[in-house]
Amino acid sequence: MFKEKWAERVKLVEENLLHELQSTATIDEKILQAMEYSLMSGGKRLRPILLMATADAVSKSGEKFLPVACALEMIHTYSLIHDDLPAMDNDDYRRGKLTNHKVFGDAMAILAGDGLLTLAFEVMTRQKDVEPKILLQVFHEISTAAGIAGMVGGQSIDLQSEGKHINMMTLRKMHIGKTGALFLAAIRSGAILAGASKDQLDALTLYAENFGLAFQITDDILDVTGDEKSLGKPVGSDAKNGKSTYVTLMSLDEAKFLAEKTVETALDALKYFGDEADFLRETVTQLILRER
Ligand code: IPE
Ligand code: IPE
Ligand code: MG
Ligand code: MG
Ligand code: MG
Repeated sequence: MFKEKWAERVKLVEENLLHELQSTATIDEKILQAMEYSLMSGGKRLRPILLMATADAVSKSGEKFLPVACALEMIHTYSLIHDDLPAMDNDDYRRGKLTNHKVFGDAMAILAGDGLLTLAFEVMTRQKDVEPKILLQVFHEISTAAGIAGMVGGQSIDLQSEGKHINMMTLRKMHIGKTGALFLAAIRSGAILAGASKDQLDALTLYAENFGLAFQITDDILDVTGDEKSLGKPVGSDAKNGKSTYVTLMSLDEAKFLAEKTVETALDALKYFGDEADFLRETVTQLILRER
């Protein structure tokens, strides 16, 4: 059931991503091609799926919010294109294909990222049937999460920590920023769009915070124990760049234990929801078992 529902949602998101790309005006085909190359190369589509699953948990309204969900995937894809650049992690493979800069060159890859980030906000303006006040709140959630209080800030800490020993507090802050913030935005936006009560929003925020942390801990683990073919990106990238990760600050077993504990906390946050939140429960449980 879970797998089928997941596949269904991936298909929906991908059809819509392509549709949004093709409905945008461009004065240059090449940049559109570079954007499409990374956007349509098959990621897990976790952030849009989480947004929809959250809206479903609140009011069974997930599919109504496809444009905002897809906007998040565009922001995420932009962050990956830039993350892989030679000046950042210098990686050659992403989502099982050559990275954007390997195909289009560094300058075009920077622009493809810029184009996707900007397109995300254009696409959010295409969201229908939402009160302007609510949509503005969602713009606020997503723009702050993508910026220096979130993803960009976390990436900045990540780069400054290369080759250094950082403490657990800094590592946590970095993870919450570079990875947690977009998950938080996905889940909170889904909740806000679906009309969540304050109590529901608080519970879902707690779920989201723990989801994001567990996700990046497993990303750090997979960089050591993973298999390049199933991951679709190189293993050992963190060690190559002297990154500080959960696996360098603690042992592999401790990191796995912490990931499990964090998943439990996320599940606990959903205790007042009924089976309408089962998809969210299953998604966070799968994190521990994931291979990609
Ligand atoms: C990878 O994110 C980057 C991190 C935030 C760790 P995902 O693992 O969600 O990547 P895709 O979208 O499936 O390629
Ligand atoms: C990057 O973290 C998170 C982003 C904001 C893209 P990583 O550098 O660990 O992501 P991967 O392992 O390359 O996907
Ligand atoms: Mg990185
Ligand atoms: Mg990286
Ligand atoms: Mg990583």
